[in-house]
Amino acid sequence: MAAPTDVLFRPFRIKSLDLPNRIVMAPMTRTFAPEGIPGDANAAYYRRRADGGVGLILSEGTVIDRPASRNHPGIPFFHGDAALAGWKTVIDEVHAAGGKMAPQIWHTGSTRTMTDWVPDVDVESPSGLLAPDKPRGLAMSEQDIADTIAAFAKAAADAKRLGFDTVEIHGAHGYLIDQFFWAGTNTREDSYGGATIAERSRFAVDVVKAVRAAVGPDFPVILRLSQWKQQDYAARLATTPDEMASWLQPLVDAGADVLHCSQRRFWEPEFPEVDGENGLNFAGWAKKLTGAATISVGSVGLSGEFIAAFGGETSQRTDLDKLIDRMERDEFDLIAVGRALISDADWAKKVQAGDSEGLKDFSPAALAELV
Ligand SMILES: Cc1cc2nc3c(=O)[nH]c(=O)nc-3n(C[C@H](O)[C@H](O)[C@H](O)COP(=O)(O)O)c2cc1C
Repeated sequence: MAAPTDVLFRPFRIKSLDLPNRIVMAPMTRTFAPEGIPGDANAAYYRRRADGGVGLILSEGTVIDRPASRNHPGIPFFHGDAALAGWKTVIDEVHAAGGKMAPQIWHTGSTRTMTDWVPDVDVESPSGLLAPDKPRGLAMSEQDIADTIAAFAKAAADAKRLGFDTVEIHGAHGYLIDQFFWAGTNTREDSYGGATIAERSRFAVDVVKAVRAAVGPDFPVILRLSQWKQQDYAARLATTPDEMASWLQPLVDAGADVLHCSQRRFWEPEFPEVDGENGLNFAGWAKKLTGAATISVGSVGLSGEFIAAFGGETSQRTDLDKLIDRMERDEFDLIAVGRALISDADWAKKVQAGDSEGLKDFSPAALAELV
């Protein structure tokens, strides 16, 4: 018999954010924002997840006000009157359904997409690299860096002004902020580079500080991080708990309240050589090392991980026992659910009701439409 899911439906509070349960919709780029403007279809899509009982919705990545901050023409802006008016409709709809939501603010750095679209200005990154020894675009000047930090802060201030409940900074997956973290793409010789992960974290620390200053002390700030990169799934920024502490603690000290620790499979232990094959995952270690609240993620309810899904691989539905086990041990505070919520907006309600038979299976075909 499947384990009871009550542990997923305990409330959670941090600063001004009150959540009815522990289920977070993972941020998922859908590229359905024509001209970069979210419209009624986007608002209805998010509202359906709020109606479906998701505790906290994280928006798809939405880009800050920098030239070439996005790598696909269907990615929404989080700047400019028209796009912000679209986002205002989104948050109003989510609130009308009793939901809570953050925009995920983003800069795609020098990454490419699967389309052949390119922005009409040069892409920017710490050292003009897409990956180790793969040049692409321009290395950012100190002025570019200062302007980019200011643009993150402006986006966070706008999130608060529009009525969003919190904000998530996208610092993961090999995009701009992560390109600063990663030695493979940050070879700078100024104070934004360096031999250690602590030195290469300076850009992210400055972004978090500026965001914190822009939103005030009581508005929760979430920071998404990953060891893995889209450029290299095996890459790791921290190979020991001490190194991880030297990466994460300054980010928490700078003002990140919640660390959203991205893994492709939540059940994989971060340092099995320390605490075994069933040891803490990334979110577990991040919480243990810093004391900050954490969100875990990765293949909840599904057998296959999401990158394979882009290649068309289908996943089998799986039970939630491993997740419930870890949540009962308070390994992390919240769990993000991605693809399962694309295929079934009512996933949270059905899980709470024990209606696992009623859950709709995820199929990669669902990525082709916004429902
Ligand atoms: C279609 C799609 C788009 C995604 N876009 C983003 C994104 O914009 N920002 C982000 O941080 N992660 C993004 N991700 C990763 C998800 O947030 C999540 O970490 C991943 O899908 C694993 O969760 P899942 O196995 O429950 O799907 C995306 C994933 C999918 C499937």
